[in-house]
Amino acid sequence: MKQAGDKIVCLTAYDATFTAVIEAAGVDVILVGDSLGMVIQGHDSTLPVTMEDVIYHLRCVTRTSHSSLVIGDMPFMSYATVEQAITNAARLMQEGGAQMVKLEGSDTQVEIVHALASRGLPVCAHLGLQPQAVHKIGGYHVQGRGEDAALKMMQQSNSLEEAGADILLLECVPEALAKAITEAVDIPVIGIGAGGDCDGQILVLQDAIGLTAGHVPKFVNDFSGQQIHPKAAIAAYVAAVRDGSFPRKEHTFS
Ligand code: KIV
Repeated sequence: MKQAGDKIVCLTAYDATFTAVIEAAGVDVILVGDSLGMVIQGHDSTLPVTMEDVIYHLRCVTRTSHSSLVIGDMPFMSYATVEQAITNAARLMQEGGAQMVKLEGSDTQVEIVHALASRGLPVCAHLGLQPQAVHKIGGYHVQGRGEDAALKMMQQSNSLEEAGADILLLECVPEALAKAITEAVDIPVIGIGAGGDCDGQILVLQDAIGLTAGHVPKFVNDFSGQQIHPKAAIAAYVAAVRDGSFPRKEHTFS
């Protein structure tokens, strides 16, 4: 799809019903994200999410998914060492049915991505805002602003691709940097709060259909139009990513 210039439409899902609904709307990739800790479990961060939680929700999703690529998120501290990463990534695939695993990447994760990729496990590396590091970075802020930070993220993207990552996910990254990274790597780049030049977009399902209680991030568009059925909101999201009308300027950082 990257080579053909077709936008890749991704959404999170955590249960069987919405999986069927979003697949019917034409979503290409489903992420069983550790965002489940916030939108399903009600925690104020993703840190409490366990391997058992992700496996449970992966099973719910993979029972009704047939056409999309299903990615399972590696929870906080489940990939702190290479050995842990291999064991836990294999669990997400064997026990949960994930077809790819996602981990929050950085310099120190290059070795882990290599260890997984070289053993035949498909990997999505998540750069930019890394919610599992929220207490280290002091909040949910845009990442990669300024020349040094941008250069570092560009280098990390190249290293992660070389290590064998299959997809890069960029969260809360200035649009110019996300565009440069998307052009620099051959693997697909999926953005969330990273502008419209990425190869695809992802949103948390509840945000996309206007069900989020409390703070809604700047990069979110509520596709429900406040009153239409979730199925129509999801169809609007799919159409808007495909035709490039989402994200717009107001969803983008500079
Ligand atoms: O956990 C998640 O749902 C994510 C997305 C916000 C990209 O990482």
